[in-house]
Amino acid sequence: MRDITYQKIVVERFGDSNVLQVVKATLPEPPPGHARVRVVAAGVGFTDLMARSGDYLLQRKTPFTPGYEIAGEVVDFTVDSRTPSWLRAGIRVAAALTKMAAYSEFITLPLWQLVPLPDGLNPQLASAVPLDYLTALSLLDTHGRLGTGGTVLIQGASGGVGRAVATLGRLRGLRMYGTASSSGSREALASHGVTFIDYRREDFEMVLREREPDGVQAVFDHIGGKNLRKGFRILAPGGVLVSYAFSGRPGRMVSDTVRGAAQVKLMNLHPRRRTALSMVPHEIKGDPDGYRAALTSVLDMAQCGLIAPQIGATYPLVKAGDAHAALERREITGKVVLTMG
Ligand SMILES: NC(=O)c1ccc[n+]([C@@H]2O[C@H](COP(=O)([O-])OP(=O)(O)OC[C@H]3O[C@@H](n4cnc5c(N)ncnc54)[C@H](OP(=O)(O)O)[C@@H]3O)[C@@H](O)[C@H]2O)c1
Repeated sequence: MRDITYQKIVVERFGDSNVLQVVKATLPEPPPGHARVRVVAAGVGFTDLMARSGDYLLQRKTPFTPGYEIAGEVVDFTVDSRTPSWLRAGIRVAAALTKMAAYSEFITLPLWQLVPLPDGLNPQLASAVPLDYLTALSLLDTHGRLGTGGTVLIQGASGGVGRAVATLGRLRGLRMYGTASSSGSREALASHGVTFIDYRREDFEMVLREREPDGVQAVFDHIGGKNLRKGFRILAPGGVLVSYAFSGRPGRMVSDTVRGAAQVKLMNLHPRRRTALSMVPHEIKGDPDGYRAALTSVLDMAQCGLIAPQIGATYPLVKAGDAHAALERREITGKVVLTMG
């Protein structure tokens, strides 16, 4: 096996989208239990923007390569006792990473993290699935413990995770309310069967109290602050508030997140309602079998059209900075995907 020379995006110092630099690197042969993967496409999430600014709880030290999700093709691998039987050079795979590193032409990954792509699934589409849909499954199943037919509130239902929750929620027959503000949200949410609440004009607590006087079974929150208390108050007995992010003050995001997480833990002392924190990179590491089963199921759903992640824009890898800038200007509706040459 020879070293591979390739390009990747590196954050040398925290800052705006201009800090994303294209760097040449060399990938040595993979250690036992690892594969080298030629990345075809990498999904871009809001989390990447936070990490680039140095404002992310699971922050990597500089220099680092952003991105949590890829689809690509196995170049080669070094076997160990747990090498899956389906693995071969050339096979297409997807993965959610536990440490950011996806904006890259090639990547070395542990074999347990790879899931084969279903036949015919476009790798660009596949790269838009892992983080948003694994997070949605974490919210709905792991923490929400929702069956079918409950009523839920999805904060930020127009965002990447929010859309994934709405898509899966519809398939499960959930009755859904969603907050959003961007233009076209009302129609987009309606197409997923979600009742739209404009969080800039309406108080979601008032709306839900009026429309669902018995309360809702779950609230999924990525904002924190007073949203948490308001969301908690509209829960039905036995309901759960699942928190998966906190929109803190710029430069203080990490301390605000820690404070928010403590608040969520304290609220969990309530006798008749629950709270939970979802942190998908940790959940992947903690349950590799569950991770592979979950990713396989959502990729299968994408292949047969049960879910259809909306790609809002694709950028070549070397234009990752433009992709971040466009997302920050809120110009793009749908998922952004980086494609490799
Ligand atoms: N815990 C985990 O493991 C995990 C995994 C993935 C992502 N995350 C985190 O989850 C958050 C969302 O990620 P994402 O990729 O879905 O981001 P995104 O695509 O940028 O979506 C965020 C959405 O939030 C909405 N929003 C903004 N302010 C709001 C407010 N005050 N009330 C309600 N909604 C509001 C926006 O809606 P409008 O534009 O319509 O206003 C936007 O669509 C990020 O903080 C990310 O880091 C956590």
